[in-house]
Amino acid sequence: MSEPKKLFIKTYGCQMNVYDSERMSEALGGQGYVETKTPDDADMILLNTCHIREKAAEKVYSELGRFKGLKAEKPDLKIGVAGCVAQAEGEEIMRRQPLVDLVVGPQSYHRLPEMEARTRAGEKALDTDFPEEDKFEKLKNRPKAKRGPTAFLTVQEGCDKFCAFCVVPYTRGAEVSRPADRIIREAHDLVERGVREITLLGQNVNAYHGAGPDGDMTLAGLIWELNKVDGLERIRFTTSHPNDMADDLIEAHGSCEKLMPYLHLPVQSGSDRILKRMNRSHTAESYLRLIERIRAARPDIVMSGDFIVGFPEETEEDFQATLDLVEEVKYGYAYSFKYSTRPGTPAAERAQVDSAAADDRLQRLQALITRHQREIQDGMVGRTVRVLFEKPGRLPGQMVGKSEYLHSVHVKGPEIAVGDLKEVQITDSGANSLAGELL
Ligand code: 5AD
Ligand code: SF4
Repeated sequence: MSEPKKLFIKTYGCQMNVYDSERMSEALGGQGYVETKTPDDADMILLNTCHIREKAAEKVYSELGRFKGLKAEKPDLKIGVAGCVAQAEGEEIMRRQPLVDLVVGPQSYHRLPEMEARTRAGEKALDTDFPEEDKFEKLKNRPKAKRGPTAFLTVQEGCDKFCAFCVVPYTRGAEVSRPADRIIREAHDLVERGVREITLLGQNVNAYHGAGPDGDMTLAGLIWELNKVDGLERIRFTTSHPNDMADDLIEAHGSCEKLMPYLHLPVQSGSDRILKRMNRSHTAESYLRLIERIRAARPDIVMSGDFIVGFPEETEEDFQATLDLVEEVKYGYAYSFKYSTRPGTPAAERAQVDSAAADDRLQRLQALITRHQREIQDGMVGRTVRVLFEKPGRLPGQMVGKSEYLHSVHVKGPEIAVGDLKEVQITDSGANSLAGELL
């Protein structure tokens, strides 16, 4: 048998890219590749890129430039660019960086094995189409390898919302849901391989409307189906849009035992004027009322969100409205970003906020978020949570896992194994994690 070829994948950005990288690795496994942890001994290097913020394309070009030496030493080395920068830049990547052999957009990953073969024949391979077929079905070349206790599962991709700042509708394309039976089959397969918690992924996951046995199924319908899967203990989903938070999904948060009490629900701003300019089609008030309903269904739910500060035309007053909203919601986690222009999006053409003012707002917002985050985490002390253990901790005999609320919990217990789900009494709250004892 010939030596396996080595594949190095570097993944940037969101969880969907993490999932896609796993699928690409499995697909190339069928071509005789095994993954390696360093580019130095690789036969193929793939950058799975992200285009959501900052100077994404420039960073990719400078990263590619660093492989020049490797390629000179090893002319057979193939270099590929995948992900949203590949989609946005397309052929331009090969023009600007001739050492690139392959450019593949997120909707064409099932064509990767055939593209790889073309690069082996000395050709360049480019595919940034939006084909009709279900790429994940075609990507099922997977070995039945054991897996860790948590996994991502993509159920929906793309977005039709066109928020004025965002590239996703352009790079990932229109909103498409995968059929429910395929997702359920994939969930069974993951559970057989040791997975106990699945996070359903989609850029607009709660807009899910995949074909089920009796017509289209909602995300809540899909969650209820997954709730029946023996051996699966926990279900999460991300990322949701406030406008798609349907009644059945809110209700599932109150009644579905495997659905975890954590919800990532980005609002982006607390100012109605800015929300309108962002094309968000919800107001601060409607968002707050929505959270009230979610909390009525599941009072202990931990909320998480995304914010953009310094969006074009944002005034100090607009920013104050964001602080007010944060003060009212009290997020357990929140991600805040300084607005950065994405060429081709509507907001890129507008009057930009002074960069120093935006930096200052970002700091103030993050300070407030951190305070709430800390209060919520500290509030766990004395409570009993269930922890799904994921890996050994840094100290000997210590294990780390996640609570229902997604807090990291450190526990001393040599008898604990990866994949165990155990009741833990929280004793301490540190900078970024909790500590506890087995009950
Ligand atoms: N500038 C800053 N942040 C952005 N996001 C998306 N586009 C931009 C942009 N142009 C943030 C949003 C989104 C998260 C994934 O990234 O908050 O929810
Ligand atoms: Fe981007 Fe999310 Fe808005 Fe879609 S809903 S355009 S993915 S920010």
